[in-house]
Amino acid sequence: MINNAANLYTTSTAVQEFSIPYRYPVSFTYDMFNPANPLLAETLCMAEHGMQHRLVIFIDEGVVNGQPELLGRIEQYADYYKHHIDLVTHPVIMPAGEALKSDLSFIEQMQEVICDEHIDRHSFIMGIGGGALLDAVGLVAATSHRGIRHIRIPTTVLAQNDSGVGVKNGVNLFGQKNYLGTFAPPFAVINDYQFIETLPARDKISGMAEAVKVALIRDVIFYHWLETNSAKLNRFEPDAMRHMIKRSAELHMHQIANGGDPFETGSIRPLDFGHWAAHRLETITAYELRHGEAVAIGIALDTHYSVLCGLLPKGSDERVYGLLSTLGFDLWHPALEQQNEDGQYEIMQGLTDFQEHLGGELTITLLYDIGVGEEVNHMHHDLVLESMQWLKQLHYSQARYAA
Ligand SMILES: NC(=O)c1ccc[n+]([C@@H]2O[C@H](COP(=O)([O-])OP(=O)(O)OC[C@H]3O[C@@H](n4cnc5c(N)ncnc54)[C@H](O)[C@@H]3O)[C@@H](O)[C@H]2O)c1
Ligand SMILES: [Zn+2]
Repeated sequence: MINNAANLYTTSTAVQEFSIPYRYPVSFTYDMFNPANPLLAETLCMAEHGMQHRLVIFIDEGVVNGQPELLGRIEQYADYYKHHIDLVTHPVIMPAGEALKSDLSFIEQMQEVICDEHIDRHSFIMGIGGGALLDAVGLVAATSHRGIRHIRIPTTVLAQNDSGVGVKNGVNLFGQKNYLGTFAPPFAVINDYQFIETLPARDKISGMAEAVKVALIRDVIFYHWLETNSAKLNRFEPDAMRHMIKRSAELHMHQIANGGDPFETGSIRPLDFGHWAAHRLETITAYELRHGEAVAIGIALDTHYSVLCGLLPKGSDERVYGLLSTLGFDLWHPALEQQNEDGQYEIMQGLTDFQEHLGGELTITLLYDIGVGEEVNHMHHDLVLESMQWLKQLHYSQARYAA
């Protein structure tokens, strides 16, 4: 017992307690900047009816390059709905991808626009772009004036089926992915399938990794659907792409809302299946690999590992490898074998980074069955290396077969 005889440290504690429910719509539409489509104007009006809403837009330069007419269409749309939308400045074009997330001066640039345009908490910030732009704009919105309402318009497969519908934002710092960021649910999300049409093939494929991931840990029926429709997805057939995006987005949303830990205060992150290796691979390759490409490798690695450690029935690993290959993924990268001066595999640092990002005990999601994730607290390094060798062998035997 602590000696408090002198009664010098008498303490009185009052408990402060309140809770805030979060609620935001995730809409699926086509051609949102056609004046015939009122969705965006209606979404803004969810805040306050019958008034003009001040709006600043940050847009991914890759989207603008793919759709040069878009900037004009956005301004025409705002003009058509001028009783509801006050576009306070022209849409601000920002660099695309990890370049934006890896230089804090871009965050400051965006905050300066918000300050100069006198954007307040009753105004709106809108991000139009891939997962990287949305992560950076989300951070800007969450931190300027301690939080401005923000609307996400995801324009990649990955952003529509995963990152854009969630509650996280962040940028890279100190050589670590998403080191600086917050949990900040958006005001609304609008997934417009029209954006997917101008996305480069590489990014269409990349985003499908997150659909395979969430199917593997949560939904065997969706996994079977992905297998059955893998050839259509490989050809990017619109109906198949839309179903894949919508079902994956729903599963991500369901996990966040019902998984019991939306702001990740515990140590379990099932939606990060395959990600401990993926985040590390992205860093070691200096982001030469797309996030989804690295995730596909991470999924294949941890699926075979699940078999090696006796969790997952044999053969399931080959099925998963087959699905990812049919979708168009290359499941090997030489960076997997990169070693530091002490002869340690660089990839293994991913386990430490993963644990440190959250704190607490190392918790990795593996597979117990297709559609059923299982958490473990230890990874055997020799089995990880064996799993890597499996990927390497399959890659080179396929390459020989193709030649
Ligand atoms: N916040 C989260 O919960 C979460 C979850 C998963 C991934 N992420 C992050 O998302 C990022 C990856 O996102 P991504 O895969 O969307 O890649 P990305 O944002 O890097 O975009 C990929 C490329 O596509 C271009 N592009 C985007 N939309 C386009 C369009 N419609 N037409 C033509 N080009 C277009 C971009 O300019 C870019 O060059 C990573 O930084 C990852 O860490 C975040
Ligand atoms: Zn991911």
